[in-house]
Amino acid sequence: MSIASIVRIERDAELALVIVNNPPVNTIDAKVRAGLLEAVQQLQSDASVRGVLLLCEGSTFFSGADIGEFNGPPKEEEYRLLFNAYESLKVPVVVAMHGTVLGGGFEIALACHYRVAAPGTRFGLPEVTLGIIPGAGGTQRLPRLIGAEQTLELIVSARPVDTNKAQELGFLDAVIEGDLRAGAIAYLRELLAKSKGVRRTGEMQIAPSSASAEMFAQMENKARKLYPNRNAALVAVDVVRAATRLPLQEGLEYETKRVNECKESAESKGAVHAFFAEREARRIPGLPPAKADKTVKRAAVIGAGTMGGGIAICFANAGIPVTLLDAAQAGLERGLATIDRTYQSMVDRGRLSAEDKQKRLALIKGSLDYEDLRDADVIIEAVFENMDLKREIFRKLDAIAGPDAVLATNTSTLDIAQIAAVTRRPQDVIGMHFFSPANVMPLLEVVRTERTSPTTIRTVMDLAKPLRKTPVLAKVCYGFIGNRMMEGYAREAERMVLEGATPRLIDSTLEEWGMAMGILAVFDMAGIDIGVNVHIANKHQFPPDPTYYQADFALHEAGRLGQKNGKGYYRYESGNRSRIDDPEALEILRARARQLGIEQREHSKQEILERCLYPLLNEGLRILEEGIALRASDIDVVWTAGYGFPRFRGGPMFYADTIGLPVLLEGMRKYEALSGPMHWQPAKLLVQLVEQGSSIVQWEAKRGAVQ
Ligand SMILES: NC(=O)c1ccc[n+]([C@@H]2O[C@H](COP(=O)([O-])OP(=O)(O)OC[C@H]3O[C@@H](n4cnc5c(N)ncnc54)[C@H](O)[C@@H]3O)[C@@H](O)[C@H]2O)c1
Repeated sequence: MSIASIVRIERDAELALVIVNNPPVNTIDAKVRAGLLEAVQQLQSDASVRGVLLLCEGSTFFSGADIGEFNGPPKEEEYRLLFNAYESLKVPVVVAMHGTVLGGGFEIALACHYRVAAPGTRFGLPEVTLGIIPGAGGTQRLPRLIGAEQTLELIVSARPVDTNKAQELGFLDAVIEGDLRAGAIAYLRELLAKSKGVRRTGEMQIAPSSASAEMFAQMENKARKLYPNRNAALVAVDVVRAATRLPLQEGLEYETKRVNECKESAESKGAVHAFFAEREARRIPGLPPAKADKTVKRAAVIGAGTMGGGIAICFANAGIPVTLLDAAQAGLERGLATIDRTYQSMVDRGRLSAEDKQKRLALIKGSLDYEDLRDADVIIEAVFENMDLKREIFRKLDAIAGPDAVLATNTSTLDIAQIAAVTRRPQDVIGMHFFSPANVMPLLEVVRTERTSPTTIRTVMDLAKPLRKTPVLAKVCYGFIGNRMMEGYAREAERMVLEGATPRLIDSTLEEWGMAMGILAVFDMAGIDIGVNVHIANKHQFPPDPTYYQADFALHEAGRLGQKNGKGYYRYESGNRSRIDDPEALEILRARARQLGIEQREHSKQEILERCLYPLLNEGLRILEEGIALRASDIDVVWTAGYGFPRFRGGPMFYADTIGLPVLLEGMRKYEALSGPMHWQPAKLLVQLVEQGSSIVQWEAKRGAVQ
């Protein structure tokens, strides 16, 4: 696209409209900046223009800066000069926004003189989640409009706000119903008629009442609490504080200096890596191009339980009609009632209108009859985890499903090739491994067998988009990518609990490090019985270690199932998910340790982290060397999108390179010497790369493009 077609000026008598069209989401990239600069230069020298209106075409106003530029030379100065040029115009500049206005998109609006928006527009500064701060004037201009405190609320929380909140805060002047362009032109003409001239944000003063020393101290505490081990939010507090004492231009220069420091931080590099890893994961070499006739128009789900219900909701949310089939009326009714409750709670929390709830429910049709699955383009099986049952169902599907239908299973532990083998169309069979709750968790492991066809993979990878899932392709192995890496991580956490570490110590150490939730709290949430059943059913898959997952077994035998019955590793009060330390649980664990002859001792946080994380990273290297994952960054996506691994650490494989593979190998050897090779054998690839003085990134670069 040429610059001229991305940014153009249209005249409406005495007004000039700067119109931007950079699909799909009007990212502010180099071309947009060049176009905006050219436009503002023209406006500066055109005496016939009495007012300027900036707006974007397409689905949204500027959605933000181009994150792809993060790795190149800094662009902040260019942004600064450009936005200053708009702010300095000698006629009123109105910006009209719609869609999702984030980061640099929000910041250019702050440099305009008046701001209006369509209903439903959302505004946010999510930079700290990428390990940086707003770097195009946001930290200096926003406090002049809404005060330092509210600015920091927005930046530190990183959550977007709607038009109501925007008007209440005071950075949005009007909401325009109906045609945005026409309404904004009328708004600008009215300003001119009332002789309202330029109103430069940079010339305003920050309200002193919003910027007390106590407020800044409180914000620092909040930043530390929300983002332990991270710096960006603290830098934001510092830079907004600077806005209270520096004139605009000096403040902007200080902002530039600090944002560029942030970009060099491990925190930012990890978060940016996680962002690009998700994009890359969708790119699968060797697949046929997407075909319109292959898009999924109707779906079916078998099994109306926890997972099946959640998956059906994903389809309905995407506007795709879905048939939900269960074996018996009672199961089906229970499933449909749960779906209704899930939607109702969204309505109650103001996330969904009652009308939309009805529309979505109307897309979900319950059934007990396989005949109803005939016209589904994709059928996802989510019945009990039992090979014979699943094979029986796939036989039925083979007989009934349309010739082009994709037949998917949501199994977590079973060999999908064996399921596929009962059909006459193993090329159409694939794993679609959703995570619980399926309507919330973004990760979708797409599991191919040796016989799954490229067309089937393409259909499912493409389907992830409307379902709002982050897909990662894996090959069949026990646990696929995510659960396979979980095994050693959770094993060590449980083992340390038997050695006397409290669940609280283990979980809080992991959480301080950055995990979204400590692993023992995760077990309580998921149900201790779920893990125990998986371990009983798959005994043959695990090493012959009498202490293996015995903490789970001990609690389970004592009737402690986790949150569902109010007691697991912790105790819970009814209707409350807060974890309460429970001496009874500790006693059960100690008794099991005595039975197993496990000595009690103290654990440092460092030991907890090493013992939990090293097996996880080591298994990731095995998965890589076996080709179960296409690339290291795919493994990173699985863990950041599905298991709460901190994005600012990039994901397990990125983190392995960050600490250095020799450190990981040395750690594995240290624990191998202490507790034997059963669990601590280093991956071959790890040993090989350390011998070669190489890293995962270098190994992948040398290996060349993913095959
Ligand atoms: N729960 C999780 O966290 C999770 C996560 C990922 C994958 N999975 C996998 O998803 C699948 C379902 O798990 P779940 O937790 O939803 O189980 P669930 O027990 O909640 O639901 C299973 C449903 O299947 C129905 N069903 C049983 N036999 C059937 C048949 N012959 N025909 C039709 N329906 C039948 C049952 O009535 C029930 O409604 C399993 O393979 C499981 O391993 C579960």
